[in-house]
Amino acid sequence: MKAVVYDRYGPPEVLRIKDVEKPTPEDDQILIKIRAATVGKADGEMRSFTFPLWLQLPLRLMFGAKKPRIKILGQEIAGDVEAVGAHVSDFKAGDAVMAALERFGGHAEYICVPAKSAVVQMAPDVPYEQAACLTVFGLNALHFIRKAKIKPGENVVINGAGGSIGTVMVQLAKLEGAEVTAVDSADKLSMLSGIGADHVIDFAQHDFTRLGNKFDVIIDVAGTGSYSRCLRALNPGGRYVMANPMFIPMVRSLFTNRIGTKRVLFQFASYSKEGLTHLGALAQAGKLTPVIDRTYSLDEIIDAHRYVDTGAKQGSVVVTM
Ligand SMILES: NC(=O)c1ccc[n+]([C@@H]2O[C@H](COP(=O)([O-])OP(=O)(O)OC[C@H]3O[C@@H](n4cnc5c(N)ncnc54)[C@H](OP(=O)(O)O)[C@@H]3O)[C@@H](O)[C@H]2O)c1
Repeated sequence: MKAVVYDRYGPPEVLRIKDVEKPTPEDDQILIKIRAATVGKADGEMRSFTFPLWLQLPLRLMFGAKKPRIKILGQEIAGDVEAVGAHVSDFKAGDAVMAALERFGGHAEYICVPAKSAVVQMAPDVPYEQAACLTVFGLNALHFIRKAKIKPGENVVINGAGGSIGTVMVQLAKLEGAEVTAVDSADKLSMLSGIGADHVIDFAQHDFTRLGNKFDVIIDVAGTGSYSRCLRALNPGGRYVMANPMFIPMVRSLFTNRIGTKRVLFQFASYSKEGLTHLGALAQAGKLTPVIDRTYSLDEIIDAHRYVDTGAKQGSVVVTM
């Protein structure tokens, strides 16, 4: 089968298409013929190894000190089950499925995943391209929205709203009945208004924490908000959700959470079948539509990574097989 592999960290040009052995499902696995996958910021970060300083050492130990241990990137997929292992009863050949991959591997024609992992039947009317965008990024968006415990009418700001996670988050926050302020770069603001944001802010022009507005919930997806100013911009009882947390703010949150009524939350998302099914049902009902900026073929993977690296993408970038 065809797969996109890389043997060293670096720019998009380290990626190449290679013929690799097609996997065979173990007893508890299903074999998926991948139809669509996404190229996200995390794929670029894994490829180039440009992580925040405090994450460099643990991630190098986990993913390979000198060269990548995981050879095939891609965290989000949708496709068709081609075969199932002897102990699998929940899926059968021909089922359309969407899956969040904990160990990457989605930039290929096939993958085997455990049937018990975050893989579910696709909602019938949702295209593969859209379903793929709702897996890892959708689950992250759902996780942080649930953490925030938004009540109808609450004032919610999402910092870094224009990307893969943020565009799903804006729509989920609106479904909770929130008044949503979306913060991102100027060229993404009309798209953000189009998916339901009530207010938009260009971060290059204004710092949302310095405008004198008070929020019930701040969700920082970009991870660029100042910890102290975010806390000051919260109403009493407000929640500051760090979706992309840095080390020092995480330590500071341990003290903040012991006093007063404002709370800081940063727990990482887990990948669940329940979450995927919920997101699929919202998409099926027309309540949630992933924003897809561009679609590339697998052969154009280097161009897809180059585009994601520019930071210009709105929502998600998809590759189709
Ligand atoms: N499993 C995962 O993949 C996972 C899980 C949790 C968290 N994360 C991390 O969460 C972050 C966001 O993920 P994502 O996939 O949504 O990334 P993304 O698609 O690149 O979206 C991030 C958005 O933040 C914007 N931004 C950059 N600087 C900003 C600033 N100073 N203020 C406000 N907005 C700013 C970016 O706009 P411009 O590019 O135009 O500047 C972009 O639209 C990434 O760092 C990712 O590694 C990833």
